[in-house]
Amino acid sequence: MNSPKHVAIIMDGNGRWGIENKKSRNLGHKAGLKTVEKIIKSTIKNKIKYLTLYAFSTENWKRPYLEIKFLLNLLESFLNDKLNELNKNGIKLKIIGNIKKFPKNIQSNLKNAQKKTNKNKNLQLILALNYGSKSEIVNAIKLIKNKKIKINEKSIDRFLYTKGIPNPDILIRTGNTNRLSNFLLWQLAYSEIFFEKKLWPEFSIKDYNRIIKI
Ligand code: IPE
Ligand code: IPE
Ligand code: MG
Repeated sequence: MNSPKHVAIIMDGNGRWGIENKKSRNLGHKAGLKTVEKIIKSTIKNKIKYLTLYAFSTENWKRPYLEIKFLLNLLESFLNDKLNELNKNGIKLKIIGNIKKFPKNIQSNLKNAQKKTNKNKNLQLILALNYGSKSEIVNAIKLIKNKKIKINEKSIDRFLYTKGIPNPDILIRTGNTNRLSNFLLWQLAYSEIFFEKKLWPEFSIKDYNRIIKI
């Protein structure tokens, strides 16, 4: 395969890794963030232009309140601590998903980070937050109907969150679970899918290279 333009990842297995290694699901999420940083660096090194990470699904609201709170705090500190680094490395941040359900301060941090990184060209980092593929498609169809535009594949493409972004060449799901969990159902129609046994915090650059260099 030609080198991929767009890699999408379902980063699964943080909780199990945390329980096994630190007796805490939340510490698994913290460790998962380290893998995120490694994979972003390696993606740039490999000249891949788009990386989409599934960070929080519409179904993840069913988790215990304290776990959700921990995940939101991690997101907030990532945005606060890493904004300069994103710019230094030419990374443009784009959020897909309905962020209106997040606390106001996180919503404005997300908007600010997208605005401040908007001109960067090395890598587009697409974070899926409160993302669900079915609701994305329903939302697109509603918008098309409101505008009285013809419903076809092209118009649906234009009203998805991923407008203008090429479809992923590769989807990776870590965590030894072989399902899509409502992620990019439309956009993955022709992607190659890799289900990995390793949990996200233990997923390495070597594992990543093995997949993207096929
Ligand atoms: C994925 O890891 C990360 C998020 C959903 C934020 P999980 O938290 O689902 O980890 P497991 O699957 O329970 O091990
Ligand atoms: C998918 O992982 C969502 C993210 C990685 C954010 P989950 O662990 O939430 O998936 P399901 O719901 O168990 O399939
Ligand atoms: Mg999981």
